[in-house]
Amino acid sequence: MNYDKIIVIDFGSQTNRLITRRIRDQGVYSELYPHTIKAADIEALKNVKGIILSGGPNSVYDDNALRVDPSLFSLDIPILGICYGMQLIVHHYGGTIEKTPSREYGSAKITLQKQSRLLAGLEENETVWMSHGDHTTALPDGFKRIAYSPSCDIAAIENDHSNLYGVQFHPEVQHTQKGHTILKNFIFDICGAHASWTMENYIDTQVSHIREKTEGKNVILGLSGGVDSSVTAMIIDKAIGNRLTCIFVDHGLLREGEADQVMEAFANHMKLNILKVDAQKRFLFALKGTVDPEKKRKIIGKTFIQVFEEAAEAIDDVAFLAQGTLYTDVIESGSDTAKTIKSHHNVGGLPKIMKLDLIEPLNKLFKDEVRTLGKSLGMPETMIERQPFPGPGLAIRIIGEVTEKKLEIVRKSDKILHEVFASNGLDKTVWQYFTVLTPLKTVGVMGDKRTYEHVLAVRAITSLDGMSADWARIPHNVLETLSNRIINEVHGINRVVYDITSKPPGTIEWE
Ligand code: XMP
Repeated sequence: MNYDKIIVIDFGSQTNRLITRRIRDQGVYSELYPHTIKAADIEALKNVKGIILSGGPNSVYDDNALRVDPSLFSLDIPILGICYGMQLIVHHYGGTIEKTPSREYGSAKITLQKQSRLLAGLEENETVWMSHGDHTTALPDGFKRIAYSPSCDIAAIENDHSNLYGVQFHPEVQHTQKGHTILKNFIFDICGAHASWTMENYIDTQVSHIREKTEGKNVILGLSGGVDSSVTAMIIDKAIGNRLTCIFVDHGLLREGEADQVMEAFANHMKLNILKVDAQKRFLFALKGTVDPEKKRKIIGKTFIQVFEEAAEAIDDVAFLAQGTLYTDVIESGSDTAKTIKSHHNVGGLPKIMKLDLIEPLNKLFKDEVRTLGKSLGMPETMIERQPFPGPGLAIRIIGEVTEKKLEIVRKSDKILHEVFASNGLDKTVWQYFTVLTPLKTVGVMGDKRTYEHVLAVRAITSLDGMSADWARIPHNVLETLSNRIINEVHGINRVVYDITSKPPGTIEWE
């Protein structure tokens, strides 16, 4: 990629990803790299205009302290150290770091001491966010102190001559009020980077890259109708047109009208080359008699791969499999500490089996950048702003065995929920909402008759990323309308309950 870049070297701070985010927000491409990266690798990346050494939990004197390749300091590229990153610079040039009597964590006031390029445009006193255990007590030759705080005598440093800069606080977090200005000074004034990170540029670069890589061969992609696979399809379609075949597996576990909407938007409106496979019966048959949530998920994943492979065999000369992997998936994979809570299924589980080369045109993007990209590519708004929908679909919103009749109940109630939320403006504020059919039956009375029917749960949550969530505070009158409509209009339900569990301890989906 030929954009100017600022690279962030990862020493393990929780806010590292945020640094790359903040830089991209200013129109300059930024990516995280492991601390083991060599100076030669950085040169090979081309157009690296600046390096940021991130924060991290270590102390520079620890035996196992993470270090950088010392040749990095001879690259003639400006370097900004943040927190631990600043201490690495000081240590490398012979300054002194010492333990603070107690860790400093939280808001602090810094005072600017001298004119500086890094802190240009800041007031004499500014609020910043500190989080550190060690601090600098003596500066190496050639460095000057440019700011201090009551508990941190050397809070920011500069060596203009060698283009080295450091801040003990975190400019990337919102609590550092002028963090944006500090990063802007570094990126543009000190590094001289150009703001060339736009979605239009990204599209152009990816399009030529995909054309070169595929060399006239064919590409397949599993289209789910979700944002990631749809945007992937659109960018590849722009590059190679009908040499891309999107395989859309209708597993019969979709919401009311969803398969038609996907076909209408992407086949008719966007003119993508889509092969739709109707596999409803096959999935229902495979799921017959299965109650255990993990078994259900595994059956769906396995059946999906079989159906997908069979469909792909009918396409000639396929050499590539495209996937909508995001930058966050790339950074998060590789962690072996996370326990499996649920075997997530999405169309990303295919390559190990299919022995095709991968094309992942979104693997440098954050989710909101993918949405912007979708917009630039002309994707309909209704498709871009869709709420997440799990790969195994409604099967995990039916507790117990999946049957045609139960699918009908979930579809109808889900449709009512969508209508009621939309007419009350809640579709804009609630992150995800759906209904869950429980196997529990209770007694009710309707039209003077005893009923004995299922309990249906409504789940509505607020969240930023689905990793944690809170139950949405839905007005009582809306809940009342919902309950009345569902019981009156959906056969098989005589009681509606509202789920008031946050995540954790609950998960968003019930299975
Ligand atoms: P949980 O239930 O794990 O869900 O709290 C977090 C988010 O992920 C969605 N979800 C899935 N998405 N494949 C997916 O692509 C899956 O198997 C899957 N299971 C859950 C869920 O809807 C929520 O947004």
